[in-house]
Amino acid sequence: MIILGIESSCDDTSIALLEVKDSQLHMLAEKTASQIDIHKIHGGVIPEIAGRAHAEHILPVIEEVLKDQPTPDAIAVTAGPGLVTALLVGVEAAKSLSYLLNIPLIRINHMEGHIYSPLLPEQGTDGELKDIAFPALCLTVSGGHSAITLMHKHGEYERIGATRDDAAGETFDKIAKMVGFEYPGGPKISKAAKTGNPKAIDFPRPMILKDTCDFSFAGLKTAALYWLRDNTFEETTITREDFCASIEAAIVDSLLIKTMRAAKKHQPKTIILAGGVSANPTLRTQLEERIAKILPHTTFLKPQKGYSMDNAAMIALAGYYHAKEKDFTTPKELFADPQWYLTDNSN
Ligand code: KG4
Ligand code: ZN
Repeated sequence: MIILGIESSCDDTSIALLEVKDSQLHMLAEKTASQIDIHKIHGGVIPEIAGRAHAEHILPVIEEVLKDQPTPDAIAVTAGPGLVTALLVGVEAAKSLSYLLNIPLIRINHMEGHIYSPLLPEQGTDGELKDIAFPALCLTVSGGHSAITLMHKHGEYERIGATRDDAAGETFDKIAKMVGFEYPGGPKISKAAKTGNPKAIDFPRPMILKDTCDFSFAGLKTAALYWLRDNTFEETTITREDFCASIEAAIVDSLLIKTMRAAKKHQPKTIILAGGVSANPTLRTQLEERIAKILPHTTFLKPQKGYSMDNAAMIALAGYYHAKEKDFTTPKELFADPQWYLTDNSN
């Protein structure tokens, strides 16, 4: 089966053509047009500018990916959550292609796409499609959304916890902006953190004592703002790297505590880490170490580096599982849903 994946929920126009045959994954073609250079100028994603850039990129990128390739069996497109101006471009392109090529459409939730990203082989290589042992506990941490979800089987999700305010990636980005890093600041904080002392500043770990798997990052953002208001790196012995390491430690700790709390309660067979923040090396290694120590029989899955951030390959792979169940939609029924929560029409 060949699936065309289309992703345009935020600032990447990404298209992938994925073939799944005899449990083998073969990426026929993939291409992503990033808008980072445009949004850098404004310090964040401006929805109207993102929409316009997607509109400029989407047809050339689709054309490049489909050039000299077989006609796909289905088109999987991100319908939400995300920026409506951005989602609309991918959704309308998918509808037009579906009409033109007369192939079925699949409506994909962006966060479900992220959940499947750890099953993708390293970029540029083929690989075997492994089964997920259920139940699987998924920590999805991206720029717009952060959640802990229990996956009972393909397509069946239960909400275990979510952020009550800012997403983890958004927190990284906003605090990075406070210290003068360009958008997107998450990777820059994580790079600076490598040489800093994570114990230099004792930032709060909000809600860790509360018996819930929800998290909250607004308090940490305020604490960072106050620390920067009351201190300068020139006048203290604390360096920018120490500050970044301490922020990273606070975010990672709070994600680890809640994930392990959920894991102890639900005893999953698999723990999946996904979303843009899963590129963070501290989060990747610390979660892996903690799982190995506390739940040694649980399998830990995380995306290959190139697939942590938004990409169409993960949308195509999620689409494959829907296509297997003939879970198709029609151009008339397909619409962009910027607030679509993964568990809305599941559990
Ligand atoms: O999933 P994603 O590509 O886009 C959304 O769906 O939002 O996630 C992007 C987020 C950004 O907030 C970015 O700063 C964050 O992922 N991010 C990181 C790292 N790499 C990307 N955050 C912390 N450490 C990183 N290494
Ligand atoms: Zn994402």
